[in-house]
Amino acid sequence: MKPILLTTLAAAATATDLLLPLYQFPANNGGVWSPIEDALTANPSLTAKIIINPHNGPGGPGEGIDDPQYAAGTKALAAHPNAQLIGYVHTSTDLGATRCNVPWADITAAVRRWSTWVDRGVAIRGIFVDEAPVNTANDCVAYMRNLTDFIRTDPGLRFGARPVVVFNPGGTGQLQAYYDLQPDLIVALETCFTVPERAGGDYDQCPTSGGYERANAVRTAVLVHGFHDFNGPAANLSATEGVLDQLVKGVVQRGIGATFFNTAGYHTFTDGPASIGTVARVLRTANGA
Ligand SMILES: *[C@@H]1O[C@H](CO)[C@@H](O)[C@H](O)[C@H]1NC(C)=O
Ligand SMILES: *[C@@H]1O[C@H](CO)[C@@H](O)[C@H](O)[C@H]1NC(C)=O
Repeated sequence: MKPILLTTLAAAATATDLLLPLYQFPANNGGVWSPIEDALTANPSLTAKIIINPHNGPGGPGEGIDDPQYAAGTKALAAHPNAQLIGYVHTSTDLGATRCNVPWADITAAVRRWSTWVDRGVAIRGIFVDEAPVNTANDCVAYMRNLTDFIRTDPGLRFGARPVVVFNPGGTGQLQAYYDLQPDLIVALETCFTVPERAGGDYDQCPTSGGYERANAVRTAVLVHGFHDFNGPAANLSATEGVLDQLVKGVVQRGIGATFFNTAGYHTFTDGPASIGTVARVLRTANGA
């Protein structure tokens, strides 16, 4: 029995999860999210960490869990055994120019508000920290250590036995001090596929360069949006399903902990070639499951 168990654990530990920034309003009582539900159902071996973000956070009174459409949509998603819903918070009061300057009382209030979703029937499993630091300025290591400890250990929170913590600095930087805090994931590359001149508007929210964080692969997430047209003369790849397959395989082979590719921004998931259904299938297949 023991060797079989070890093999199973090893396989689970090396699979690349889906990390889906779900910034789309759940219209039709969550009906607009049905392609995501279909992808979860069709790929049961794939674990999907799904970031819920009503209003740059959990939303105030009347928003988020108070909105019947959000309540219905997130309940339906959370009912899938391979979905882990995580709540969005951010650390910057100036759109990322300064990190870790949201007052402690405010960011912990947002985390506590996410926990109230659990009481109201939506299993939130942890927190996605956006505008996370890219260097050690502004006492950010202490801030992120305190925040991680709070999310994982505060007795008033109900995110389950092992709360998920994801940092999103949105790019490479001086990240080792943050890997040392042992979050589940750091989004060390958030970039776009297409060439800058074809980017923009609702279709992309693209920085134009970035590199893989090669160390710490299992705690690293790679998000690629704007998967359309082609990616410039240097690589000369067209955004086809075949290229998607190759790129996703590359991510999995590097032992990256989680990934997401999509064609449009994080508000539309059915546009091809990187629709949610295709991405989930390609990733599940690349995982060998
Ligand atoms: C982190 O928590 C410690 C202990 O409560 C506190 O002294 C320190 O000021 C906090 N640092 C930040 C940056 O929040
Ligand atoms: C880019 O790829 C296309 C199709 O494979 C090929 O025809 C073209 O010569 C390539 N261009 C460069 C600059 O490599």
